[in-house]
Amino acid sequence: MKNLLVTGGAGFIGSNFARYMLEKYPHYKIVVFDKLTYAGNLDNLRDVASSPRYAFVQGDICSADEVQGAIRAHAIDTIVNFAAETHVDRSILDADAFLRTNVVGTFVLLEAAKQFGLERYHQISTDEVYGWVDKPAHEDDPLIPRSPYAAAKASGDLMVNAYYVTHHVPTTITRASNTVGPYQYPEKVVPLFITNALENEPLPLYGDGKQIRDWLYVTDHCEAVDVVLHQGKVGEVYNVGGDNERHNVEVVKLILDTLDKSPDLVRRVADRSGHDRRYSLGIEKIEQLGWKPRHSFEGALTETIHWYAENKWWWQKIKSGDYREYYERQYGERLRTSEAITV
Ligand code: NAD
Ligand code: TYD
Repeated sequence: MKNLLVTGGAGFIGSNFARYMLEKYPHYKIVVFDKLTYAGNLDNLRDVASSPRYAFVQGDICSADEVQGAIRAHAIDTIVNFAAETHVDRSILDADAFLRTNVVGTFVLLEAAKQFGLERYHQISTDEVYGWVDKPAHEDDPLIPRSPYAAAKASGDLMVNAYYVTHHVPTTITRASNTVGPYQYPEKVVPLFITNALENEPLPLYGDGKQIRDWLYVTDHCEAVDVVLHQGKVGEVYNVGGDNERHNVEVVKLILDTLDKSPDLVRRVADRSGHDRRYSLGIEKIEQLGWKPRHSFEGALTETIHWYAENKWWWQKIKSGDYREYYERQYGERLRTSEAITV
């Protein structure tokens, strides 16, 4: 393994992964392949752009020609696929791009991995494929996705397994929990609430705020992918959780306390349709490879809050463009009919 195609590498986790791998492996070449959708941003890779071991290719994972061209041009031996449509609320508004990228795009990449005889195809997946759970989900549990986003990601995972079984493509999958850290697009709850709080804008909390997510810091997520790439068994799936399950209200409180903002900013708004109450992962399998999360809930959130407070240039640019249109569609009516809530 030495020439990695990091698809979706201009997004949140992919850009952190590109940076992490360039630093950790001085002999690896990292080629970021990204369509630059609304969520892709070359600012995320500004600090690695001058590295002679880094290259950027603008392309769509649904295009076999573009994918094959990049593999040939850069003698790629490994694909790590972060490329996806990733936001549940957007998948409720319109699921079309989710099916194309998360399902068809995954198929196109697997075909390329087969044709070129790549050393490894690694799929970045999510705890959301297990659906709403009452106890920690394990890798062999049934996939019961409940949002269009989660259904498209689960379909991608099934296709990866099919290519392993049928075509012997050497695949691995990681299913990670809610990830936080620098360069996350401010539509996901943590960067949305931090940046709104910094601007004294309301924080729209869905429903009663008692939903549970398991918070994982982005460098812990990157380390887990690295461990599975190098020590994981082909054909296998590994859960990657942060061991930090918290109610959404606890996340809101920590953000407000850290930034010294008033709890009056929080507004209870109409709930997300089909909202999963809890995600939870059993991580014994990846622990056997020697990985465990390094960040506590407070550590992960505090580092993230400080980064957004110190890097307004990064998110203020994003929040001034097409973002406003999405924000009005998603939150306009919700905020007009919102209620006070004590957190
Ligand atoms: P993101 O939305 O920040 O970035 C996605 C990237 O994919 C963007 O750069 C975008 O331009 C690119 N992309 C989208 N469609 C493409 C296409 N057709 N061809 C090429 N590039 C395309 O996403 P993220 O939060 O960094 O998530 C990365 C991966 O991790 C996804 O597969 C997601 O399902 C998974 N994941 C995310 C989380 C999380 O909490 N963010 C948790 C678990 C798993
Ligand atoms: P989100 O960041 O969208 O991730 P997930 O894919 O896990 O849903 O949301 C995390 C939690 O925060 C989830 O329970 C929904 C809730 N949430 C809000 O309360 N308000 C918001 O504006 C958003 C985006 C999410």
